[in-house]
Amino acid sequence: MRKLLFGLIASLALFGPAAAQNFPSRPITIIVPFAAGGPSDAMARILAEHMKNTLGEAVLVENVTGAAGSIGVGRAAKSPADGYTISFGHLGTHVANGAIYKLGYDLVGDLDPVVLLPSNPMIIVSKNAVPAKTLKELLDWLKAKPQPAAAGTAGAGSGSHVAGLAFEAATGIKLQYVPYRGTGPAMNDLVAGQIDLIVDQTSNSIQQVRGGNIRAYAIVDSKRVESAPDIPTTDEAGLPGFHMTLWSGMWVPKGTPKDVIAKLNASAVEAMNDPAVRKQFENLGLQMPPKDRLTPEALGEWQKAEIAKWWPIIKAANVKVD
Ligand code: MLT
Repeated sequence: MRKLLFGLIASLALFGPAAAQNFPSRPITIIVPFAAGGPSDAMARILAEHMKNTLGEAVLVENVTGAAGSIGVGRAAKSPADGYTISFGHLGTHVANGAIYKLGYDLVGDLDPVVLLPSNPMIIVSKNAVPAKTLKELLDWLKAKPQPAAAGTAGAGSGSHVAGLAFEAATGIKLQYVPYRGTGPAMNDLVAGQIDLIVDQTSNSIQQVRGGNIRAYAIVDSKRVESAPDIPTTDEAGLPGFHMTLWSGMWVPKGTPKDVIAKLNASAVEAMNDPAVRKQFENLGLQMPPKDRLTPEALGEWQKAEIAKWWPIIKAANVKVD
């Protein structure tokens, strides 16, 4: 009986309220399920750089790539539910992939939400060699091509792929998808002229557009990006109503103690409230999440609503996993 009692006390100490008091007592890892240098990686690293100060332990970013992010999410979902492994992701990884892949985990049943992160309006960009200066000219060029244009993505089900499908639906123009381990590597090939275009996250393209290394045609939204005021919206450029924004978030394995989640949530929210971090994000064209949607529960409800919205659309598109 004494042994059982001791065992109970020990397990409470490990995972009970005392756990949060001592949390964190070692480095935390954010698993980014795409290659370094892409938009997910960039956002995670900016957040990690600030979160380590409020948490008092190193916050490391590990890139675990493959299958449009589903490998990395699986690694996180199967980690111990102790708060030391965070799953970074977005509409593609924590919604779309569930409708495309036979995942070895449940996006809702095996993960607990932590916090909604900034959103990326999408942007239509091409290599400089494309002989089009406006969105209308780009659409004419694409329609005239004998073969579908090569569009870079981060894999079937990734945000850039879902955005490509939405572009096809809005224009009736077929694309030939070229999958990468992230849109960081895809961007390298776009700059090099190896692929024709990406329907990309603005934060991933904006610096290359500013540097004249690729061409931007439109922000896929109803409003322009304040830090890139000269890029028209799809509404202005000839594709009215074609809007897509990619929200991101953080999750932890199901069963992580609530007060540990609360600590991670508070640290991420504090990072997003930091003026220097906000300036970095806004300069990348990112939109901060509404203040009334920053609780773990708000991300959980949002993810479930997005699954209800997107799964029928994606299943109807009959996306084939190569
Ligand atoms: C995507 O879904 O396209 C990814 O977010 C790209 C990336 O982050 O590398």
